[in-house]
Amino acid sequence: MTHLLPDLPYAADALQPYLTAESFAYHHGKHHAAYVTKLNALLAGHDWASLPLEQLVIEAHAAPQGRAIYNNAAQHWNHWQFWHGMRPPSDDTAVPPALDHLLRKSFGSVATFKEQFVLAGLNQFGSGWVWLTEKDGALAIRTTGNADNPLIRDERALIGCDVWEHAYYIDYRNGRGAFLEAYVDHLLNWDEAARRLTETVIPH
Ligand code: FE2
Repeated sequence: MTHLLPDLPYAADALQPYLTAESFAYHHGKHHAAYVTKLNALLAGHDWASLPLEQLVIEAHAAPQGRAIYNNAAQHWNHWQFWHGMRPPSDDTAVPPALDHLLRKSFGSVATFKEQFVLAGLNQFGSGWVWLTEKDGALAIRTTGNADNPLIRDERALIGCDVWEHAYYIDYRNGRGAFLEAYVDHLLNWDEAARRLTETVIPH
């Protein structure tokens, strides 16, 4: 199968002023596109060429010779879930009841979750991701370096925010904290996060 760069689920200027069309032109149009192009080149004639993306990420991670394929496949999956995990800024920031309940149980309040999520993202040294994960009904905030993601720990990713510099440098320069605060306060798609409690991240 050929892996494809997915269309954004909104117009490239729909998340302004928090993420600009210029930022998407680079992050989606250049960075994510490059991972997909590289992945397809690495998979040409390969035994793994027909694997669905999630399975490819897990198998390549487990194989010593799979590092280059793993890095590009994982970044493809990571960015796919990142685009769908955001939505245009809205006054309606209500968290669906089932997820709201779990967040309160795990963190005390949604506000405390947001504070801890931003702090975790700030403390991720170098390139990586900050996640809200679920496993067996328990939520956790995780950080991962480079391309790593919750799939390789058999955890469900409800939310995943890119903290590579390329994710925020155009709009926030070195202000990773300001980017993370905008993400949790204005861009997070809570309906998608709640959907992921019961469904796979990537629609097939
Ligand atoms: Fe990225």
